[in-house]
Amino acid sequence: MALKSKNKHVKLTKLDTEAFSALRANIQYSYLNNSIKSIVVTSSNSGEGKSTVACNLATSFSQSNKKVLLLDCDFRNPSIHKHFNLTNTIGLSDILLGKYKLQDCVQECEPRHLYVLTSGNTPNNPSQLLSSNIMLDLISELKENFDLIILDTPPILRFADSQILSAINDGTIIVSKYGKTNKQSIIKCKEIVDKVNGRIIGSIINDVPKKVSSTYYKNYDKIKAF
Ligand SMILES: Nc1ncnc2c1ncn2[C@@H]1O[C@H](COP(=O)(O)OP(=O)(O)O)[C@@H](O)[C@H]1O
Ligand SMILES: [Mg+2]
Repeated sequence: MALKSKNKHVKLTKLDTEAFSALRANIQYSYLNNSIKSIVVTSSNSGEGKSTVACNLATSFSQSNKKVLLLDCDFRNPSIHKHFNLTNTIGLSDILLGKYKLQDCVQECEPRHLYVLTSGNTPNNPSQLLSSNIMLDLISELKENFDLIILDTPPILRFADSQILSAINDGTIIVSKYGKTNKQSIIKCKEIVDKVNGRIIGSIINDVPKKVSSTYYKNYDKIKAF
């Protein structure tokens, strides 16, 4: 696949690398015989760290020599291109609308083995586009070309998009923010994913203060995966 040039000046909020290596190992070893090739990252509301977690998780897997595609499915608030300082003139929506082909839109990134498909132009009907057969076909095509696909998505309690994507991908990770996300919201997220037989493969508490993490989460710094 011919790709656009590499990015420079990455602006990613880098979270604790060790915690992400642990999360990566958890995912890899828990699903050894039942391979997970596409992972949806979601949370109840905005600002809880979905995009930051998706970027860090994709980076972590790419550093373990997996060919990873990070896919920005958040048409409501696209941000992956900002984290990696990429352009977002064309991307996912343009492929789904038949304007461009996958190879025109995928951008190769630093570190090696990391590729990004940004959201593209904001469509009028995000949920409809994401639930189309073209999206299903695209996921299959991506699985043929990459070892792993990480999908960044909008808040699951506000839009149907994440639920739609949970139903057609192999696993879902629910992110919550320490001190902000309440238990009821996390339970609701789980119910929404369960409803479409989505498979929750993990949950992450993001932005755990150092003081707390050193008390309760001895091996982790800013983030805890379980
Ligand atoms: N663990 C963290 N430590 C520091 N800043 C963080 C952390 N997680 C998220 N942020 C910052 O919080 C803001 C919201 O995060 P973001 O990933 O965009 O949330 P979401 O995608 O859920 O809306 C961003 O500015 C991001 O850089
Ligand atoms: Mg986001």
